[in-house]
Amino acid sequence: MLPKGNFPEKVYINGEIVSSEDAKISVFDRGFLFGDGIYEVMVQLENGIFYKKAHLDRLQDNLNKIGIQYNVKEIDDNLEILLKASSLTDEPCLIYMQVTRGVAPRKHAYPKGVPPSVMMYALPFSLPAINPKNMKAILEPDVRWHRCDIKSISLLGNIMTNESAMNANTNEAALVRDGVISEGSHTNIFFVKDGTVLTHPANEHILNGVTRKIVLKLCNDLDIQVIEKPIAENEIEQMDEAFFTGTTTQVAAISELGPHTFYKNDDIGKVTRRLQEAFAQLREKNTANLTLINKKPLTNDSEK
Ligand code: PDD
Repeated sequence: MLPKGNFPEKVYINGEIVSSEDAKISVFDRGFLFGDGIYEVMVQLENGIFYKKAHLDRLQDNLNKIGIQYNVKEIDDNLEILLKASSLTDEPCLIYMQVTRGVAPRKHAYPKGVPPSVMMYALPFSLPAINPKNMKAILEPDVRWHRCDIKSISLLGNIMTNESAMNANTNEAALVRDGVISEGSHTNIFFVKDGTVLTHPANEHILNGVTRKIVLKLCNDLDIQVIEKPIAENEIEQMDEAFFTGTTTQVAAISELGPHTFYKNDDIGKVTRRLQEAFAQLREKNTANLTLINKKPLTNDSEK
């Protein structure tokens, strides 16, 4: 029996749709034993799955990075079936999917010839066009590993820091590695200084969020200058604005970050607001098959 909670009605597991109660995996699954797998989260809005292709491409890239041989086309082909079985065709919902290296005797080395385990589900979930929440965040040491670019299902570092944020009655933890802010526990972070948008470069210390890429593209379209440059903890107070981005967060203004207050009331910064409005407009379009390639190259810190 599942405990009480917001579980989905149906789960897709290795080619079958079953009720959540019957969705079972082996205790020898490497996802269960080692956290050896990759996940994705995307949302379906009024006009289809928001940047579905970008999410599935990232899933494929991540699986390739860790050598799990699987073609995400199978997931794509089964999404409609899952949504229909979940009575969520064309309904706003959140789609979670994960692929692990499959079931094998517990040995560190990758097993050969084992089929991956594939699981996905959809839950009713809707997001307002503009996130009305101004977020408060604590600063926490980034205790995670050195391959945060991989969307690994092992999220211990992320959930530990998120728990600290919850215990401090805030909404998120901004993570500090080597004195600079990398990202949030489940979001990317941006700053604004004199009209320029600043964010950590997409290297191995952050997950290159789909929403991050959307925001960079919106900056490009709106002629807002972007520099991919990490911001040091001691530079926060010089920043004019800050915001988090993520699939379920969209673009959320940060009112307080550690000891620094950006806004005391509900007013938010001009650039954050412009980006939120542009993001809301994007939601009107069917973005499912759009790719996220910037027309103009970004300025990287090393070029400055
Ligand atoms: N989190 N950074 C981290 C560490 C994340 O876990 C996420 C997403 C992001 C934002 O990525 P995107 O814009 O592609 O959602 C950045 C998901 C939503 C989660 O774990 O639930």
